Amino acid sequence: MNLMEKDKKYVANTYKRFPVCLVRGEGSVVYDENGKRYIDMGSGIGVTSFGIADAKWQEAVTKQLGTLQHSSNLYYTEPCVRLAELLCEKTGMKKVFYANSGAEANENGIKAIRKYAAEHKGKEYYTIITLENSFHGRTLTTLAATGQDVFHKLYQPLTPGFISVPVDLNAVEEAVRDNKVAGIMMECIQGEGGVKALDEDFVKGVAELCRREDLVLLCDEVQSGNGRSGYMYSYMHYGIEPDVVTTAKGLAGGIPIGACLLNTRLKDIFGPGDLGSTFGGNPVACAGGVSIVERIDDDFLKEVTEKGKYLFDTFSNAEGIKNVSGMGLMMGLETEKPAGELASELIEKGVLVLTAKDKLRLLPALNIPMELLKEAAEIIIEACRPEAE
Ligand SMILES: Cc1ncc(COP(=O)(O)O)c(C=O)c1O
Repeated sequence: MNLMEKDKKYVANTYKRFPVCLVRGEGSVVYDENGKRYIDMGSGIGVTSFGIADAKWQEAVTKQLGTLQHSSNLYYTEPCVRLAELLCEKTGMKKVFYANSGAEANENGIKAIRKYAAEHKGKEYYTIITLENSFHGRTLTTLAATGQDVFHKLYQPLTPGFISVPVDLNAVEEAVRDNKVAGIMMECIQGEGGVKALDEDFVKGVAELCRREDLVLLCDEVQSGNGRSGYMYSYMHYGIEPDVVTTAKGLAGGIPIGACLLNTRLKDIFGPGDLGSTFGGNPVACAGGVSIVERIDDDFLKEVTEKGKYLFDTFSNAEGIKNVSGMGLMMGLETEKPAGELASELIEKGVLVLTAKDKLRLLPALNIPMELLKEAAEIIIEACRPEAE
């Protein structure tokens, strides 16, 4: 039995895998078991922020691994504190709670919203408004927050107290008027929903509404965060100040981590015993996180923006590409050919891409060299061109 057959036999069949077995990589290039080379335009799903086996990241992680791989949260460790300090310095947020994934970060963010509302307005103010087409995770509560029915069907009843409304300020205001609302949760760039950056007036309007009505605003930066959009967090593009920021994916460069950042208003909402996680704040994950976040400075973000602009301009004029969306190195391509077919065709041609809804989605490593980006863009354009069929 080969590896793919064994996987089918022993691993739960929850992913539609491509017939590729990856064995190693270097930066933005990965190789399969036959030695075939691929340019990695997905970086996991926006996880390996500095590519595969990045030297600085590897050094930070392996050093920590050989020093102290775990501590319970009953003790202090340096990487956990240093990463929280860096995150607060780069955002102006005041405190960090660590989890192990995006869904978990959101679960804790949701708890922050509910606790704040219960204490400030009353326990009946528990409803959280989310947006249609959003994605916030796969736990029963984050599924309830996710505004896409397709994920809900067979998992009822989901956690009550979530309402998804269209991306329309009137709809949000109406939901706030008609319900006892605790807060609003949104991705400024909807990732799984098709790489859609929300409209500026809408985002600013929601932030203003939250201030006016004393609602907690949570920005889900699980996918769009940690430099991906050309900003440290994509909400910064809109000039708003959320109360809670959740993030994960690229934060530790490829090691499981999640973080829930709390601003001045919410920093003391939790006390001992309110939240907990065996692995949250793990020193190896945090050491990885420090080595990533330390390097996301203004110059680096400028490079991400420039690379994003290069891709945007290149794809905007390409035949067979109807629309280009996203921000920085988080990009969606609406193509004439079906995205799923293109993804398979691109594997043949040596480029790994992602899809989101009916689009091709690109989330390359943030430090992908320009030559590789150009090489991948040419191959993608060639594949998208209708004559290439
Ligand atoms: C915006 C957003 N939130 C939450 C999640 C869930 O993250 P995880 O898969 O790490 O639980 C995702 C994953 O794709 C995401 O894109």
